[in-house]
Amino acid sequence: MASQPAPPPAASAPGGLTPAQLAFFEENGYLLVPAWLSPEDMAAMRASAEGVVASFEPSTVSVFSTNEQTRTSDAYFLGSGDQVRCFFEERAFGPDGALTRPKEEAINKIGHNMHELLPPFRAVSFDPRIAAVCRSLGFEKPLVVQSMYIMKNAFVGGEVKPHVDGAFLYTRPQTCVGFWWPLEDCTTSNGCLWAVPGSHRTPVRRRFRRGSDPAGPATVFEPPEPEALDTAGAVPLEIPAGTLVLLHAALVHYSEANTSDRSRHAYSIHLVEGGKGVEYPASNWLQRPGGPAAFPALYDAAGGSA
Ligand code: FE2
Repeated sequence: MASQPAPPPAASAPGGLTPAQLAFFEENGYLLVPAWLSPEDMAAMRASAEGVVASFEPSTVSVFSTNEQTRTSDAYFLGSGDQVRCFFEERAFGPDGALTRPKEEAINKIGHNMHELLPPFRAVSFDPRIAAVCRSLGFEKPLVVQSMYIMKNAFVGGEVKPHVDGAFLYTRPQTCVGFWWPLEDCTTSNGCLWAVPGSHRTPVRRRFRRGSDPAGPATVFEPPEPEALDTAGAVPLEIPAGTLVLLHAALVHYSEANTSDRSRHAYSIHLVEGGKGVEYPASNWLQRPGGPAAFPALYDAAGGSA
């Protein structure tokens, strides 16, 4: 196991990234900023997420075995860009389509618009420090396109295979940046993130998108051939709750299953460039009813404040 490079010192908010932090990010494709979230931030987000789960009625999406139900499930996922919806662990259902455990323990994540619809998540997502980081990274008009609350529940939280976020939040050229915060301390036993330092220098080669054939699958990979991402040199990000992990679009990262008796809740947002002539394709899986212009911007350096 490779040792984890020591992160540079934290920036003094709200000044954005220090030159040392920016250099670390550009060299490694990720960056750790300790103690970004306060205990109050984390408690408020956790309580809000618990409220979403408590009011969630799973019967509408609990069976996946027929074509009609697959279409229902696809529509539920593809229509979540401006909603707050719950998604289950793959193995949460028995052969009869019923949940095999309480819904609180069976949910994989909530997505994909907590950042606009739920106040505790909105407060964290639109914190001026995030705009300051985006200015450091050279964004002209950063759009917050997606938020997720990831449960990674004790014993059942599944692995997330090696991937790059730019495959899922694709722009031409690539501009996606992820902000990821654990709300609980992360270790290798409760499924911490693993990152492959420097892997972001390899361009994104495979994209997840809406299918173009109405009779075919709702989502496809392009090209369809599986891609074996190299995870040599991966480092475990064993970090305290509240640490910010900044993730480059092309950084290879993953997490293992949670085999511990502790959950590993996390919140993340992803931003893409909405200026500079960058294209957000209509074939991306994540869409808003109003098109890309409906994604909220942190600021617009070219066209005034947003
Ligand atoms: Fe990811």
